[in-house]
Amino acid sequence: MTKKIAVFASGSGSNFQVIAESFEVEFLFSDHRDAYVVERAQNLNVPAYAFELKEFDNKADYEEAIVDLLEEHQIDLVCLAGYMKIVGPTLLAAYEGRIINIHPAYLPEFPGAHGIQDTWEAGVSQSGVTIHWVDSGVDTGQIIKQVRVPRLPDDCLESFEARIHEAEYALYPQVLKELGVGRK
Ligand code: GAR
Repeated sequence: MTKKIAVFASGSGSNFQVIAESFEVEFLFSDHRDAYVVERAQNLNVPAYAFELKEFDNKADYEEAIVDLLEEHQIDLVCLAGYMKIVGPTLLAAYEGRIINIHPAYLPEFPGAHGIQDTWEAGVSQSGVTIHWVDSGVDTGQIIKQVRVPRLPDDCLESFEARIHEAEYALYPQVLKELGVGRK
């Protein structure tokens, strides 16, 4: 049976776009109402939901609303793609083992919210991209697949970043295919 996926993103949503162009996405969720990813979803005819943590009394209530959406849509797999919040206990309790995340570095190197910037500033000769299961830590869950991306001698931050994103756009679809997500 085909796995039903939802994609969560907070900002631009270029990874969401790549995913939605090749796979059936049940819905997009954004934790920012005015994020560009919401517009991308509308253009791609993917249902979009957006609400913000600050609209709720606490994170548990916010995540309860997310779990309701996931259950309503009978989602099998949640794909975080630039979702810049830590997944809390409420969402994890309902969906642990069914949430994956993409991280723009070669974990366990450079976890956290600024993987590309941190890697760049460290001056290492290679970085990478990682897709992993989400657990209660920050980018600590079991690694599903990762790929190395070199930093070239004449790179600037922008060219390095662009190479990381290209690797992301190749890796996410590969992993979704391997996890049995149906292509369009
Ligand atoms: C991506 O590079 C993704 O790996 C990163 O945010 C970017 C989102 O770009 N995620 C993290 O740093 C999570 N810690 P996008 O919105 O254009 O897909």
